[in-house]
Amino acid sequence: MRVAVFSTKPYDRRFFQAANLQHGHEVEYFETRLGKKSALLAKGFSAVCVFVNDRLDGPTLEVLATGGVQTIALRCAGYNNVDLEVARRLGMQVVNVPAYSPEAVAEFTVGLILSLDRHIHRAWMRVRENNFSLVGLTGRNLIGRTVGVVGTGRIGGHVARILKLGFGCRVLASDAFPDPALMALGIDYLDFPDLLAQSDILTLHCPLTPDNRHLVDEDAIAAAKPGLMLINTSRGGLIDSAALIKGLKSRKLGGVALDVYEDERDLFFEDLSNEIVQDDVFQRLLTFPNVLVTGHQAFLTEEALTAIAETTLKNLTAIEAGEAPPHVVA
Ligand code: NAI
Repeated sequence: MRVAVFSTKPYDRRFFQAANLQHGHEVEYFETRLGKKSALLAKGFSAVCVFVNDRLDGPTLEVLATGGVQTIALRCAGYNNVDLEVARRLGMQVVNVPAYSPEAVAEFTVGLILSLDRHIHRAWMRVRENNFSLVGLTGRNLIGRTVGVVGTGRIGGHVARILKLGFGCRVLASDAFPDPALMALGIDYLDFPDLLAQSDILTLHCPLTPDNRHLVDEDAIAAAKPGLMLINTSRGGLIDSAALIKGLKSRKLGGVALDVYEDERDLFFEDLSNEIVQDDVFQRLLTFPNVLVTGHQAFLTEEALTAIAETTLKNLTAIEAGEAPPHVVA
């Protein structure tokens, strides 16, 4: 199958080329992001392969369909960037990689909690300048702390297990579909407001949907336990960034670690170190000593990249053979 891969980085190419030895698809790699204009590049291809910040809105899908593209292969789990209704109307099949390595994201989440809580990122900067003062680096033990996990699917469930079994945290959760295996470990499910009120640390692992955009807004922060540490490795749109800044300035929030940001599309995955970043909200967030931001890298392990490439190519091979692909979104 002729496949146009958008938003390609060197690591994507490396793992796709290795996995494609078994599939033999005709793959062309484009560094540019997919949008209405760049969709013209996909003319003559049967499929496009895209990532989290490619924009597959109605107009983009129309251009793709006119150019002959019939398949959208997401090399990620989330599909909030695709207008599924339009894709359905255009007869396009949308496939994804629902679980490439939940452990990669879960382990990174725990890494963020530890780094933020114990100021490891700040300590590293100090030591590099031969500043060995410990003033301001006092942290808290994780054992016995209450962690609220929002969404206990593949990633959230693993985070809950690591924190409960590995660190001895009191783990609480909210999810409309409680996991009996987690309940058997002594993890209690609460409504979101109760979870907010009881958690010392709140970590988000639910998908972004129209219903839960800005799940963490000014009201939620007001209802949270004072000093709440908030972690988001899910989707940026779950948090109202302006409310976050207010919560940090008032010290209601004790710390924030983000691997995702609601307007990350114009920032993440690119080297902007020589640019003037125009996003004042994002720049303000970076100024707080108790905010740690990474650029959507929680998934980035060798195991995850291998699984992403293999699953994506398996989806395409099945479609080419006229079979049902293993992971259909729509
Ligand atoms: P999953 O589908 O296995 O689990 C999601 C869980 O969230 C489900 O149990 C669902 O019932 C629950 N849920 C849905 N809406 C909710 C709400 N409003 N409140 C509480 N729970 C809710 O998904 P998985 O694989 O665990 O991934 C979770 C999210 O992580 C993805 O949707 C994606 O946005 C994000 N992600 C981030 C990555 C990164 O590199 N930072 C990489 C991969 C995924």
